[in-house]
Amino acid sequence: MDPLFALLVLVAGAARAQGFTHAQAEAGKQAYAENCASCHGDALEGVRYGPPLKGGAFAEQWSGKPILDLYEYTSTKMPEENPGALAPDVYAATLAYILQQNGVLAGQQPLTATATWVVPTLRP
Ligand code: HEC
Repeated sequence: MDPLFALLVLVAGAARAQGFTHAQAEAGKQAYAENCASCHGDALEGVRYGPPLKGGAFAEQWSGKPILDLYEYTSTKMPEENPGALAPDVYAATLAYILQQNGVLAGQQPLTATATWVVPTLRP
């Protein structure tokens, strides 16, 4: 195999081996509305009780952190009045939606509780 082609295949493979799917983000939109929006706002803007989950302090806090740190935090501490209440795939879908709303593009691989990628730099 041509070494440049081999490298491209490798890079493309690495890019695919992370992220979340469009279907997850779609499912997450609904799950977010049901479980998170009451405190974090319909548009993730934050309301009187919950902080924004978009840009600003959220971007600063999670950019470059392992996705599992965010998964771990969310699945053990949220929803704040009933932590850990949701199924793992619902947490994953909700995070997919939140990341998408922060400008991260969907990919081919679903987000799971064993993901190893780091959150890309989020829009401030
Ligand atoms: C009852 C209100 C409430 C609900 C419902 C709720 N949260 Fe939160 N959330 C909070 C509060 C309050 C904080 C800030 C906690 C702190 O700073 O200790 C927070 C913090 C967070 C953070 C960290 C924000 C940051 O800037 O680092 C994330 C991520 C998060 N929530 C996700 C979710 C998700 C996802 C859901 C739905 C599954 C959810 N929350 C539901 C109240 C809520």
